[in-house]
Amino acid sequence: MGFLLLLCFSLISSFSSGADTIYANQSLSGNQTIISKGENFELGFFKAGNSSNYYIGIWYKKVASNPPTIVWVANRETPISDRFISELKIVNGNLVLLNESKLPVWSTNVTTASLKSVIAVLLDDGNLVLSDRLKPDEPVEE
Ligand SMILES: *[C@@H]1O[C@H](CO)[C@@H](O)[C@H](O)[C@H]1NC(C)=O
Ligand SMILES: *[C@@H]1O[C@H](CO)[C@@H](O)[C@H](O)[C@H]1NC(C)=O
Ligand SMILES: *[C@@H]1O[C@H](CO)[C@@H](O)[C@H](O)[C@H]1NC(C)=O
Ligand SMILES: *[C@@H]1O[C@H](CO)[C@@H](O)[C@H](O)[C@H]1NC(C)=O
Ligand SMILES: *[C@@H]1O[C@H](CO)[C@@H](O)[C@H](O)[C@H]1NC(C)=O
Repeated sequence: MGFLLLLCFSLISSFSSGADTIYANQSLSGNQTIISKGENFELGFFKAGNSSNYYIGIWYKKVASNPPTIVWVANRETPISDRFISELKIVNGNLVLLNESKLPVWSTNVTTASLKSVIAVLLDDGNLVLSDRLKPDEPVEE
């Protein structure tokens, strides 16, 4: 489980819109989350223990626990303090976390600038997939 870069377009081509996806024109902030299609996993800002820091992570949605069981953390080394000002968004083909100064503190850091419409999708197996989005009727490229 974790971050998986998937440039295999066929898996994603059947996705339509939904709350499991961050589109290039959207950003995730504050208490907003995305939830995988079958509601197994949720992604958003969370707070670790008593600390006042926030992290972007993925946790189990179905398995109830308090605090939720985190399965993946993005910005482990670079927490932010105000989740309502910070934003997780697509910038130049990467998923990027912008801190309170709107400066990048975490990025998927892959070269996908040539991909026109990158989206981030949270899958039911807990993987976060960065993908070029194709329309469903477009041919699958291998
Ligand atoms: C963002 O893009 C998606 C997919 O192209 C579209 O369905 C949606 O309406 C857009 N949202 C906004 C706020 O522009
Ligand atoms: C999310 O944040 C907004 C403020 O931006 C607040 O009004 C709302 O109650 C919050 N929702 C939850 C579920 O905490
Ligand atoms: C959180 O803070 C409270 C009060 O300061 C303390 O009793 C508790 O042990 C702390 N919990 C953790 C996980 O550090
Ligand atoms: C945002 O990140 C930049 C670069 O790491 C840092 O210089 C700046 O102090 C950060 N801003 C805040 C408000 O933490
Ligand atoms: C991207 O990766 C480079 C090299 O590993 C690193 O120096 C840089 O800080 C990363 N950028 C972000 C925004 O995480």
